[in-house]
Amino acid sequence: MPIIAANFKTNHTRKSSAKYISLLSQYLRTNSTARVYVFPSYTALDEYEHLANLHIGAQNAYPTQTGSITGEIGAVHLEEFNIKTILIGHSERRHVLGEKQEHIAQKFEYFKNLGYKIIYCIGEPLEVKEQGLEATLDYLNTQFENIDLNYEHLIVAYEPVWAIGTGKSATIEDIQAVHDAIKQTIKQPLLYGGSVNLGNIEKICALNNVDGALIGSASLEVEDFIKMIENTKEL
Ligand code: PGA
Repeated sequence: MPIIAANFKTNHTRKSSAKYISLLSQYLRTNSTARVYVFPSYTALDEYEHLANLHIGAQNAYPTQTGSITGEIGAVHLEEFNIKTILIGHSERRHVLGEKQEHIAQKFEYFKNLGYKIIYCIGEPLEVKEQGLEATLDYLNTQFENIDLNYEHLIVAYEPVWAIGTGKSATIEDIQAVHDAIKQTIKQPLLYGGSVNLGNIEKICALNNVDGALIGSASLEVEDFIKMIENTKEL
């Protein structure tokens, strides 16, 4: 059963997220063909209807219960809504907001100790990809520094930075090569992300060692997201 995740990033309001999640729940109530995750913005976090195959997660949080970190939220804000899933290490947080591996690893440890399901993102920038597979794997390994790869509630997402939000996903060959290599070190599920859409999801998710997809832009319309779940249901 594939794992299909929607990352809203800085899109959808509280109202539109609620509508989206309600339509998605309606579909998933009778179609349990995938394990689905949705990551709305902070302000759209809420106590949504509980379904076994739909999990609402946070795109980020600070590794604290409460505290004095202006602009951040802590575990207490997630627990209020029974949220037990978090994205850590997303490329926009690493490369746009400058989160360092040390801080990312602290965050991982913190939410691991609280038993969260963690979708942990890794991915290389274009200049590294251009140096070839070995350089890419070396780079990805640095993003595993101080990360417990045996954590039972871990899902890894491989998202090449140059493929995110560009409409240009990695080729099937690139995805296969990187996923095969990563799967030699981790036994946990491994998703691909980076310009996944209605046209390519089936091919990507059908690959060996690809356990599902993390989708940004193409997940924003609920009808499209449901179609993508449909397209992968035989896998
Ligand atoms: P994209 O984003 O699907 O818009 O490329 C994926 C992600 O960043 O998770």
